[in-house]
Amino acid sequence: MSASLFDLAALDAKVRHADLVREIKHHDKLYHGADAPEISDADYDALRRELDELEAKHPEFITKDSPSQKVGPAPSSGFKKVRHIVPMLSLSNVFSEEELEDFITRIRKFLNLPEDEAIEFVAEPKIDGLSCSLRYEGGKLVQAATRGDGEEGEDITANILTIADIPQTLPPGAPDHVEVRGEIYIGRADFAALNARLAAEEKKVFANPRNAAAGSVRQLDSTITASRPLRFFGYALADNLRFETQKQVRAALKSWGFKLPVIPDEEGMTPFAFYNAVQNLRPSLDYDIDGVVYKLNRIDYQKRLGFVARAPRWAVAHKFPAERAVTKLLKIEIQVGRTGALTPVARLEPITVGGVVVSNATLHNEDEIARKDIREGDMVVIQRAGDVIPQVVEVLADKRTGAEKVFELRNECPACGSLAIREEGEVVRRCTGGLICPAQAVERLKHFVSRLAFDIEGLGAKIIEEFYAEGLVKTPADIFRLEGMVIDPPLQSREGWGDKSVEKLFAAIRQRRTIALHRFIYALGIRQIGEATAKRLAGHYGSWPVFRVAMQDAQRDDLLTIEDVGPSVADDLLGFFAEGHNRNVLNDLESFLVIEDYVRPQNMDSAVSGKTVVFTGTLTRMGRAEAKARAESLGAKVAGSVSAKTDYVVAGENAGSKLKKAAELGVTVVWEDDWLALIGGV
Ligand code: IVH
Repeated sequence: MSASLFDLAALDAKVRHADLVREIKHHDKLYHGADAPEISDADYDALRRELDELEAKHPEFITKDSPSQKVGPAPSSGFKKVRHIVPMLSLSNVFSEEELEDFITRIRKFLNLPEDEAIEFVAEPKIDGLSCSLRYEGGKLVQAATRGDGEEGEDITANILTIADIPQTLPPGAPDHVEVRGEIYIGRADFAALNARLAAEEKKVFANPRNAAAGSVRQLDSTITASRPLRFFGYALADNLRFETQKQVRAALKSWGFKLPVIPDEEGMTPFAFYNAVQNLRPSLDYDIDGVVYKLNRIDYQKRLGFVARAPRWAVAHKFPAERAVTKLLKIEIQVGRTGALTPVARLEPITVGGVVVSNATLHNEDEIARKDIREGDMVVIQRAGDVIPQVVEVLADKRTGAEKVFELRNECPACGSLAIREEGEVVRRCTGGLICPAQAVERLKHFVSRLAFDIEGLGAKIIEEFYAEGLVKTPADIFRLEGMVIDPPLQSREGWGDKSVEKLFAAIRQRRTIALHRFIYALGIRQIGEATAKRLAGHYGSWPVFRVAMQDAQRDDLLTIEDVGPSVADDLLGFFAEGHNRNVLNDLESFLVIEDYVRPQNMDSAVSGKTVVFTGTLTRMGRAEAKARAESLGAKVAGSVSAKTDYVVAGENAGSKLKKAAELGVTVVWEDDWLALIGGV
């Protein structure tokens, strides 16, 4: 009896193993070959992890053919890099009328507009394709680039010349230098026909029109691109300052020969009414849209609002409701993050939601599991909105058979076995293993090479895992030692690698030995230090040596004067630098790297450049957020509290204690009007 039970379990495992091998190979091919991944990196990583675990339990399953025995090929990267002169931004999202109202209120507050001033928007469908920037010089299309990370994209000029919707010349009267931005996409009917053709040729079909468009654009052979039904909508200019309104931008694009996303007759419509109108229009459109984009019409206002992180303050995407589906939750597993946070993840019976196969969903934390009473084996409703990680919305309790298992989170890290504790008031349980926890180490390395950090081409999450598992890369500095290492078997002899891809990887690593200060700070992966805070720190300290000394001397008061740095962030920062092993890692890294001083964004020669400014009281001519953003864009540092280092305290109405402090310390106080005069007006 027990023997047959055992066999059944082994059989199950064997079947699962074969499925995993097939699935992983499938995704490898999509990722590296067709450039059209169907699942997120995190989901892919989860598959790999499951495979590793299964093979650890059943070494007899391992064959030469298993993906665990291979190092993935370097991603195809035959495209030249292009630095965007004006960054290509993304948009923040709203999902409800309420969030939309908040967005509009924020604009009103920022610009300090009176309640009765109507704010006009241009609203367009949000096209579900890939964005592209087209540079015209002397009326000729000279360069086309993908968005990439927003700062640097890939040169796809040769491929773009095959798209009929994209004018290769602009008519007389168009500006001599102009950069048009828009979306490349494939229509629904064209997509169906393309897939039918690919299927007839026994080639792989695409999951959805967006993947088809992306896969077609990123072809090294532009004759393939030419055979794909790609289309283009223009929706913006990199620099629209020669226009007064967004509507004029639309009109200009049209007169230059671009197609524009259709909009319902918008006269007098409120943004929300427009959203509903577009939603009604959606079934009749021949292309996929995933929401509506609202853009403030007045360009002088756009300019004042500027952007935060990578999204403009003057535009937002209103996404259509998330798509939902019902599937079975097979089991719950724990993922260990870079800072030791344990996150439960639901492994699902794979299901297609909105054109994408979903096999994992986040469960956030143990409270969420308890609150929703999620059990292994449950039928669950999952939803997926845009690029957000899929979530479990609810359990279909009436579908229960009694075989479902209640999940219990153990107080031990699944990766290293260390105690995992949940501090009072925290929702997250954390592994206390620190340096000895392999999962944390790998996640830290992945963060170190990620896009906003070192961004090393060809060194993605999967390869980091492989290199870590083999002991080639244990700490960040090992990455820079790789080239000089004797590796057995040599990388070039491995499946998926060749002399060229290895040389390319080493060249990419060498190139990143010079790194911007804010990227370096971000790359360290210190808790709570995201991109924005890393930039603030870089701006405040200016250079790596100054920053490092300040941290090691635990100059806490100075740290706390920085905008957005509160006591808990300061604790995490100083805590990091207080650890001997972290300092060793830094010393090691310093021997390989050139860390560039922070370059203030613009206006190095403004009157307030390099000055430290504190705002206090109520400003009347602009909102507080605009005042700060403006000061920063002029090269000033904005601090949250007054100290001897403060150059100016800018006082509005009802200024209080900060004014007193300024008087005590002899810091110059300027009133709002004088400040505006100093910076050249609103
Ligand atoms: S305007 C400053 N208009 O959405 C950003 N973007 O999620 C200006 N997108 O990267 C963007 N349709 O690729 C704008 N009608 C539209 C759009 C649109 C699609 C894309 C664009 C952007 C992404 C942000």
